[in-house]
Amino acid sequence: MTFPEGFLWGGATAANQIEGAYNEGGKGLSIQDVMPKGITETPTEGPTPENLKQVAIDFYHRYEEDIALFADMGFKVFRFSIAWSRIFPHGDEEAPNAEGLAYYSRILDELDKYGIEPLVTISHYETPLHLARKYNGWTNRDLIGFYERYCRTLFEYFGSRVKYWLTFNEINSVLHEPFLSGGIPAPKEQLTKQDLYQAIHHELVASARATRLAHELMPDAQVGCMILALPTYPLSPDPADVVAAMYTAHDSYAFGDIHCRGEYPGYLLRYFRDNGIDLDITVQDREDLKNTVDFVSFSYYMSICETADPAKQVKGPGNLMGGVPNPTLQASEWGWQIDPQGLRVVLNDYWERWQKPLFIVENGVGAKDELVEADGVKTVNDDYRIAYLNDHLVQAREAVQDGVQLMGYTAWGCIDLVSASTAQMSKRYGFIYVDRNDDGTGSLVRYPKKSFGWYKEIIATNGASL
Ligand code: BG6
Repeated sequence: MTFPEGFLWGGATAANQIEGAYNEGGKGLSIQDVMPKGITETPTEGPTPENLKQVAIDFYHRYEEDIALFADMGFKVFRFSIAWSRIFPHGDEEAPNAEGLAYYSRILDELDKYGIEPLVTISHYETPLHLARKYNGWTNRDLIGFYERYCRTLFEYFGSRVKYWLTFNEINSVLHEPFLSGGIPAPKEQLTKQDLYQAIHHELVASARATRLAHELMPDAQVGCMILALPTYPLSPDPADVVAAMYTAHDSYAFGDIHCRGEYPGYLLRYFRDNGIDLDITVQDREDLKNTVDFVSFSYYMSICETADPAKQVKGPGNLMGGVPNPTLQASEWGWQIDPQGLRVVLNDYWERWQKPLFIVENGVGAKDELVEADGVKTVNDDYRIAYLNDHLVQAREAVQDGVQLMGYTAWGCIDLVSASTAQMSKRYGFIYVDRNDDGTGSLVRYPKKSFGWYKEIIATNGASL
């Protein structure tokens, strides 16, 4: 059994994690330029040379070589993000930066050369820093207008060449990482639920408005939301644990429910009532929200457990987005628990809930790789990565058999890149090794890993070789 005909196989990246050239081409600063340690430390005042993202893997200058390697693997699709601050350096300008537009135009030309479909994330954890510092990020309603102007610019310039768009990367992660995800500078502990949910509301309205605009300007376009999928199991059969798991699941469902149904779900309205949250939602906002998405995309790395027992609410190192470790699962070197069947669960669950085509736009395992040399060829024998991806794709195939409509699969970090959470190079996901180290040294030379050939075969056989 293979995947559906026309299945979009490929890889995924984000601008701030691959491009580098952080101050070239008229680019303004983004929040990533003050996050040299990812989410592990508080942001710096300004850019600092220790920030690996200043150079990243230098995709900005080496994209031709990298896209040729993707083409060699047989990619049908490449997911990348446009850095908002390359197009609007501060975020609140009237006119876009022509150099930024020209750069992405060159990327699209290069993809077109190989018949690779672009899948563009409009905002991937890289809000212009000025919007964070001057406006307090998405807590401010003005961001809806700035984002809409940015989207209009992208749709007008690239609309004839890009069919698939994602509005916000992992939009639900703002609940846990308000600065990374929503450009909100206030420390998490000081941010009120009122302000956080108002910011979320602004993002949801912005996403819906972008969807409406996309449909107006590009009749063939398909717009997806993007959710961080985190299947949540009860830690025990105790019904109180089941209810605890339900509450946590609602945190993520809410974003998909609003994107797919066009209105706030009852459980979230109840949460607002119970917590004294009174949002500013205009009549126009309610109208805007009715512009629902064409498909649902998501990242999947791990599952979590929930418990009602405070004594058992002890997080593991991988529980960055909440929950507690599952005692039955193994974890990656970074404590992210590996659960291939969880992917089948998510696919069935989302399909049954929303009845929208699904797209797995991130999946993979961060691991330390060792570059070895045999017969004069340098490579990485990453059997652990092959095993992880193979096991997950087998479960995706099961879900397709279950009747789930699945559009495609883009493996996260198809080329090694800088980690989002820890800002390390040594947390590698790629099929292509990039010679760069955590201390910034390295030649930046690219070497295909063993998984490169493995993935090429999967694509060539449309999954039959799994
Ligand atoms: C997702 C993000 O959360 O996970 C990516 O969309 C990120 O930007 C990926 O890189 C893996 O996380 P990390 O922290 O290992 O890079």
